[in-house]
Amino acid sequence: MLQQFDDRNKDLVVYVGGKLGHRDELGVSPFDSVVQGGDAVWEGLRLYDGRIFKLKEHLERLRHSAMALAFSEIPTDAEIVTAVKQTLDANNMRDGVHIRLTLTRGVKITSGMDPRLNQAGPTLIVLAEHKSPVYDKNGITLVTAGIRRIPPECLDQKIHSANLINSILAKIQANVAGADDALMLDLRGFVAETNATHLFLVNRGELLTPTCGSCPEGITRQTVLDLAQELGIPSRIRDISLSEVYRADEVFCTGTMGEIARISVVDGRAIGCNSSSSIGNRLSEAFFALTQSEGERIVE
Ligand SMILES: Cc1ncc(COP(=O)(O)O)c(C=O)c1O
Repeated sequence: MLQQFDDRNKDLVVYVGGKLGHRDELGVSPFDSVVQGGDAVWEGLRLYDGRIFKLKEHLERLRHSAMALAFSEIPTDAEIVTAVKQTLDANNMRDGVHIRLTLTRGVKITSGMDPRLNQAGPTLIVLAEHKSPVYDKNGITLVTAGIRRIPPECLDQKIHSANLINSILAKIQANVAGADDALMLDLRGFVAETNATHLFLVNRGELLTPTCGSCPEGITRQTVLDLAQELGIPSRIRDISLSEVYRADEVFCTGTMGEIARISVVDGRAIGCNSSSSIGNRLSEAFFALTQSEGERIVE
């Protein structure tokens, strides 16, 4: 499941710090905090027929993450939406678009870790790409990574920061093992998430997902929990061990980039069924319907 270059993205116009420019020409300063220390927060958004799904929730998570990192200034939601709108207009985009929104602590007066060196305000970056959901919905394979998710004692994962090294190391392990993605455990050995998505499993008709102790508060995850309630599917948030994953009736992952995707194999064990009446498929259909009707209109 290696993403391929999409020719439609060859001449993208990107937004960096108030300017719009060609992807090969407009860059980020070497003095920017995201270059210097991964000191930035980010969101992945999806545009469906001119509407951004769960925009309010994404902007709230971005703001909460920036507050936790004590950014001295945070643009208003209206300012961020204007930048997103300008970027989408410049690219003539309306559907099948993934938007990577990054807010960095900004440009430093000299290189160094100290946030007091940031005296120019934050840098907002909007990268919108033509991108379909990235996972094969027929099933992807996982291998459990040796590297664990970071606990709140070390770095609270409620801060959705641009420092993804922990997950990237796990993804390298998955690549080496020939799996699509890595399953990651928390420090206690319970399932946390994959390197990029949240995990759900179905056990005798009940939907289970881990707590967000060692993973971000997922927006697709919450949407799936809400949909389960609407559909009358019982759900529970609790610690889940690997053996429970291996024997689950169904396992699937969730995230804005890939929506809902079935997991077919974990550590070489084939997982459950893929019938149209499966809980995963019912939730996928309900999720698709929601993306077709909900969301904040950004492009007329
Ligand atoms: C580590 C990690 N897990 C899971 C997700 C999926 O979260 P969401 O559903 O909010 O896109 C993300 C997305 O940003 C992420 O960075």
